Order: sequence, then structure tokens, then C-alpha cells
Amino acid sequence: MRQVPQYLLIGNGRVSRHIQHYFTLLNLPFTVWQRSEPHAALMQKLKDATHILILINDQQIENFITTHLSPTEALLIHFSGSLVSTKAHGAHPLMTFNDALYSFDHYQRIPFIIDHDSPSFENLLPGLPNVHMRLDKSLKAKYHALCVLSGNFSCLLWQKLFTNLEQEFGMPADIAQLYLQQQTQNLITNPKTALTGPLVRGDTLTIKKNLAALEGDPFKEVYESFVKCYATLVEKK
Ligand SMILES: NC(=O)c1ccc[n+]([C@@H]2O[C@H](COP(=O)([O-])OP(=O)(O)OC[C@H]3O[C@@H](n4cnc5c(N)ncnc54)[C@H](OP(=O)(O)O)[C@@H]3O)[C@@H](O)[C@H]2O)c1
Repeated sequence: MRQVPQYLLIGNGRVSRHIQHYFTLLNLPFTVWQRSEPHAALMQKLKDATHILILINDQQIENFITTHLSPTEALLIHFSGSLVSTKAHGAHPLMTFNDALYSFDHYQRIPFIIDHDSPSFENLLPGLPNVHMRLDKSLKAKYHALCVLSGNFSCLLWQKLFTNLEQEFGMPADIAQLYLQQQTQNLITNPKTALTGPLVRGDTLTIKKNLAALEGDPFKEVYESFVKCYATLVEKK
């Protein structure tokens, strides 16, 4: 009979709280240790653990393993999309996690991108029904850079629109919600035709006007770099 996994989650940040919720919905047993607890409590929890998820800041993961996890033979797993380590296996949930929890269905649909040399997904994260893909560790830096560009940087652009609508134009930020929803839907439906606007139209006059309107705004440089980047993409086609 397959052994029931005993998960120990290190940290109580955003991802940890989501995983705690997901494991509860899956009826998977787990314990949590965070650094505000005594070290002795960690040593006690290590005794039963078969799988340890180290859900702390990327730069702290290897040091934490070296300092605290030498007494354990449990499988060590981190969720960082960029960290390449020989001390723990990488399993990156391709998702963004903030403070609000998600539905059970949503958690189950999150893909995990695991290191090419990790054990099988069933042994790495037993009890999880999620799909997974393997990624060669040498490609993780590029993979993560693309995730940051798409997810995090587009978030900054939408935050900029919402803030300026409110503060500069006296409009409610949610007036742009349908625009955001449709842009997202178009990307999902057909990424190749999702881009509209002056760049695709080659409308240089509008681009010039846009740049002039952004004079003194730090996002002017962002706009300029997109124009340059897009010109390179078109040249390469
Ligand atoms: N958030 C996302 O969208 C997302 C998505 C995919 C993967 N990840 C990965 O998930 C991991 C956790 O990210 P997160 O967003 O949950 O971070 P977070 O919300 O900032 O939480 C980080 C946690 O790590 C703890 N911590 C930091 N240094 C520590 C140390 N030296 N010893 C013990 N605990 C320490 C913090 O404890 P204190 O509360 O005591 O400061 C906090 O509970 C990272 O590897 C990240 O790359 C995040």
C-alpha cells in the first residue's frame, strides 16, 4: 500500500497559506513551521515529515536547508521558479498567489513545472492531482524571466492605468475592467491576433503623440522600449 505523505510546510507567507488551504480541501495531512516558532518545534515536526515544502524567500532557501534540515531524510522541495539547487527539488506552480484564497477547482488546475531531474510527480508531490511538465534546470532562468515579464510587468502596466484613471482623470478604476477582461480573453482565445493598437498598425504619428503625452512620466521609457522591442520582432519575421 502507498505510504500516506506527511507534509511539512516551512513558512507562513502567501504561497504557504494557499497550499495549506489546498491541502485541507484535498484532505492531505500537513504541519506548518514558521520562524516565529521555537527551533525545537521544527525538530519535532521534522521527525514525522516525508515531504518538506520550503516556501520561503528564494534567497533564503539553500541557507535554511543547510542550517536546519540536515537531520531529515524527507524529500525537500521548493516552489521557486528561478532557483536552481542541488539541495532541493524545484516544483514551480505556474500561478500568482496573493492574499485572497482560490477555489478548489482553481488549485487543481494549476500546472507545476518541475526540475528535469526530480523524482516522478507522484513521488514529489503525492496526493496532488495537478498536471506537470519537466523543465531542464539550465532553462529555468529564462523561463522565470518570461513569467516575470508577462505576469508581473503587465500587472504594473494595468496598475498604472487604474491609478491614473482615478488620480488624474477622476474616473473610477473599475471603468477599465471590461477592457482588461477582453484583452485577457483575446489572449486566451488567440494570442497571435490579440495585439491591437498603434504598434501593429504602424501608426507612427499616434506613437509620437503618446510619447509626447508621457513626457516626465517614468512609463515613457517603458513605452519607448516596447516600440524598440516590437520593431526588432517585426524585422525578424
Ligand atoms: N507569490 C507567488 O505568486 C509565487 C508564485 C510561485 C512561486 N512562488 C515561490 O513561493 C515561495 C514563497 O513565496 P511567497 O510569495 O509565499 O513569499 P512571502 O509571502 O513573502 O512569504 C515568505 C515567507 O518566508 C518566510 N521567511 C523568509 N525568510 C525566512 C527564513 N530565513 N527562515 C524562515 N522563514 C523565512 C517569511 O517569514 P516571516 O513572515 O517571518 O517574514 C514568510 O512567511 C518563493 O520561493 C517564491 O518564489 C511564489
